[in-house]
Amino acid sequence: MRLIICDNYQEMSKAAAKLVSSQLTVKPDSVLGLATGSTPVGMYNILAEMCKNGDVDFSEAKSFNLDEYYPISSDNSQSYHYFMQENLFSKINIKPENTHILNGMCKDTDAECKSFEKMISESGGIDLQILGIGQNGHIGFNEPDANLNPNTHLTDLTENTISANSRFFDNIDEVPKQAITMGIGTILKAKKIVLLASGAEKHKVVKQLLEGKITTDIPASMLKVHSDTVLICDRAAYSSERIGVDIGGTDIKFGILNDKNELIHKESIPTIASDEQTLISQIANKCKELMQAYSINGIGVGTPGLIEKGRVTASNLPFKGTFLAKELERLTGISVRVANDANCAALGESTAGAGRNSRNIVMITIGTGIGGGIIINNKLYEGKGSAGEIGHIIVEKGGIQCPCGQRGCWERYSSASALVDMAKKRAEEHKDSVLYSLYKENGKMNGKIFFEAVNRNCPDAKTVLDEYIERLADGINSIANIFEPDMIILSGGITNAGDSLLTPLSKKVNVTVHIAQLKNDAGIIGAAMLQ
Ligand code: F6R
Repeated sequence: MRLIICDNYQEMSKAAAKLVSSQLTVKPDSVLGLATGSTPVGMYNILAEMCKNGDVDFSEAKSFNLDEYYPISSDNSQSYHYFMQENLFSKINIKPENTHILNGMCKDTDAECKSFEKMISESGGIDLQILGIGQNGHIGFNEPDANLNPNTHLTDLTENTISANSRFFDNIDEVPKQAITMGIGTILKAKKIVLLASGAEKHKVVKQLLEGKITTDIPASMLKVHSDTVLICDRAAYSSERIGVDIGGTDIKFGILNDKNELIHKESIPTIASDEQTLISQIANKCKELMQAYSINGIGVGTPGLIEKGRVTASNLPFKGTFLAKELERLTGISVRVANDANCAALGESTAGAGRNSRNIVMITIGTGIGGGIIINNKLYEGKGSAGEIGHIIVEKGGIQCPCGQRGCWERYSSASALVDMAKKRAEEHKDSVLYSLYKENGKMNGKIFFEAVNRNCPDAKTVLDEYIERLADGINSIANIFEPDMIILSGGITNAGDSLLTPLSKKVNVTVHIAQLKNDAGIIGAAMLQ
């Protein structure tokens, strides 16, 4: 089986359309085997366009469709008769009498199947057969079964197929339970076979097909005995390696996550934030470089700032309503998803860090401000785009002015900067304290110096810590009351204080609190997990 990997669905559709048109150029009266489902729709659209422009000619072609539900009438909008008319036949110059689809209303299915086989062989056999693949490996409606039927036959649909196809019906009960389909032998008699696979939901079966043995459990694996079969798939179906990008003010981190969610590569480059286009090109170029070295099926990006309806606005980057995902998709040709960086870090910790065994977590990033990320049932909760701005819940009416415009935001009292301000003030007021002497000795105040004073049992440092913990715990308890998460994860430089922070905090909160484990990798892992 030959393999062609395309960057995306459109490229896959183009490659398949090209094979069909070449077939018709070489042999204008070719017999085509056609499939329905969502996968070939892009290819049919391209063929219709080509036919309109005179680039392909179906006037002498014949077609035989793989299958049809049973029972179903041809005017039912879910029938494959209707599908083919809508998606292809009405848009190309094929003669209606040259198209053949099994009759979903026939009385005698045996006779219908025999006459279909006879018509195929009387036409000289199928020259080019187009196939899609089911998530369970079915081709046509040849479902996994110890005894695969070689000829066109009536078959029961599996639960898996009924549920996968229910997306086309109003409800699952309307999906017919049977179908008439070409058999594996009918398909294998085609001179050339093109199997199409698109989307991450096909990744598992494509991997099984390419790496596994020939088995009736995956009917598509029978195609491996055919001498001229080509599998054309997009990256999402072929690979589950994803790029995670974490954009920071000083550097941009890139990581590759494999299908076991392991970080198999990471690197970073200095951020060039001179203007929007330069920064976007910088990210796209590095991603393209990684796409050469790895089989990437998508890119996830974590960025500071707000994301609303796909537009990113970040104060410390040149993003002012930038359609970041769209732009990167245009430049790389593959799927890109963008989320707030604190949200990505939360997703990273919940995937591979402190929260890996929990389904529901809230991560609180304590730095200059307070950021957050909410994971519900292992999925990032994004609201309209940037949910989790928990640093801006108001804890003090009319309190300290916040750069966001409000007064009394939680981050004004419980961020690392707030702690440093409190420590400085206390030190200045108590010049005989250890806190003050460490402050003067170092010529500055920071979290490290403050916790050193705490560990040296400085009563003034302890007073500040008690007050700080009180405020931090209030906020954490409110969050826990809303979400009742399995755990709260704290991250940010202040968590280097370890037990000096965690022990007193744990006594004041009504939820399990852990310190983040992934440090700098959380953002890239979480970003990659967006895909
Ligand atoms: C359609 C057919 C099916 C589909 C398969 C994939 O005529 O025979 O085998 O090819 O179920 O369907 P999509 O493309 O919708 O994922």
